[in-house]
Amino acid sequence: MILVTGGAGFIGANFVLGWLAVHDEPVVNLDKLTYAGNLETLRPLQDDLRHVFVQGDIGDGALVAGLLARHQPRAIVNFAAESHVDRATSSPENFVQTNIVGTFRLLEAARQYWGTLATEARSGFRFLQVSTDEVYGSLVPTAAAFSETHAYQPNNPYSASKAAGDHLVRAYHHTHGLPVLTTNCSNNHGPFQFPEKLIPLVIGNALAGKPLPVYGDGLHIRDWLYVGDHCRAIECVLESGTPGESYNVGASSEKTNIDVVESVCALLDELRPRAQGSYREQIAFVQDRPGHDRRYAIAARKLMMELGWKPAETFETGLRKTVQWYLDHPDWVNYVQSGAYKEWVQLQYRETAA
Ligand code: NAD
Ligand code: TYD
Repeated sequence: MILVTGGAGFIGANFVLGWLAVHDEPVVNLDKLTYAGNLETLRPLQDDLRHVFVQGDIGDGALVAGLLARHQPRAIVNFAAESHVDRATSSPENFVQTNIVGTFRLLEAARQYWGTLATEARSGFRFLQVSTDEVYGSLVPTAAAFSETHAYQPNNPYSASKAAGDHLVRAYHHTHGLPVLTTNCSNNHGPFQFPEKLIPLVIGNALAGKPLPVYGDGLHIRDWLYVGDHCRAIECVLESGTPGESYNVGASSEKTNIDVVESVCALLDELRPRAQGSYREQIAFVQDRPGHDRRYAIAARKLMMELGWKPAETFETGLRKTVQWYLDHPDWVNYVQSGAYKEWVQLQYRETAA
């Protein structure tokens, strides 16, 4: 079996659901259930004996050690993280605790468990760290896309905390020989993304008749990937990646934020038209995010050439699926938007309103 952490969040849940749709190998899913983790997403697995859900913290060394001893996984896939850049600006403490201290405790428990395994299980064991392109920092318009050898130059508390966790992962390989793998992926979109992130936020606000907040001049560039393609890349690296190596994941889909928001509006105009006019009329430019990275772009050549991965979705086909999913699942959106989430949104957008 495999141990997945953060498997009640956006990408982790897509990974677990996708994994159990095609594999019989069971999954132990350790998730703290922060505001971003939702058991509602995992409801299809509630009677599935291949899925063992455990509510808990990756930073709880004793809990993790007990799970490893009991379930004897052949791999750990670490999705657990605080993941929202805007929250890291106002409350960075949780980012340090989970993304750095939590990753350290998980690594330490993994190292001790790995040391107890017989030779064959030891060499087959993998610790896969799910990371982000944001650790590489920001690119000027003419720069080549990030390759795996690009220096880590994080610019905000979220990316700095992810970078610190990744460095510990790397160090556990070099110092202790732990067979680690790291993936650095670009921005994801797709089903079950918490509606504080750009694309689901824009869909929700559009349908509610609210402003669609675009930070600064809207010309910041992100490289977008459909979540299912990211999950398949992680499976591919887990099975065929070389321990100690990093693999960038992305589909060369660079878009400015205003382009993304306009594309969402165009899809909504087609699929759920307003009584009059276009959703574009709701676009509102607001105060920029502090320390806002201008451009991310991923070169995924290594993953494609060495491991044979390629994305199934283009930006257009993937975005259509994402928008359609949110239109079809208003109950999920209402469910995850608790009172605490609403309070945070009010604070965030009062502070950033131009
Ligand atoms: P998310 O915020 O949707 O989910 C994170 C999950 O981790 C939640 O279920 C939460 O409850 C859980 N969690 C948080 N702290 C925990 C702790 N201490 N112990 C156990 N569980 C904990 O995040 P996501 O978007 O699914 O991102 C998953 C991973 O992928 C993160 O490591 C993130 O850095 C990385 N990543 C995300 C993107 C993206 O575009 N979303 C892109 C590249 C990489
Ligand atoms: P986000 O979804 O928060 O992902 P990340 O910060 O990890 O890239 O934001 C994507 C881009 O959209 C980023 O450049 C910030 C911008 N953005 C807005 O313009 N308005 C918003 O309300 C949000 C949440 C993000």
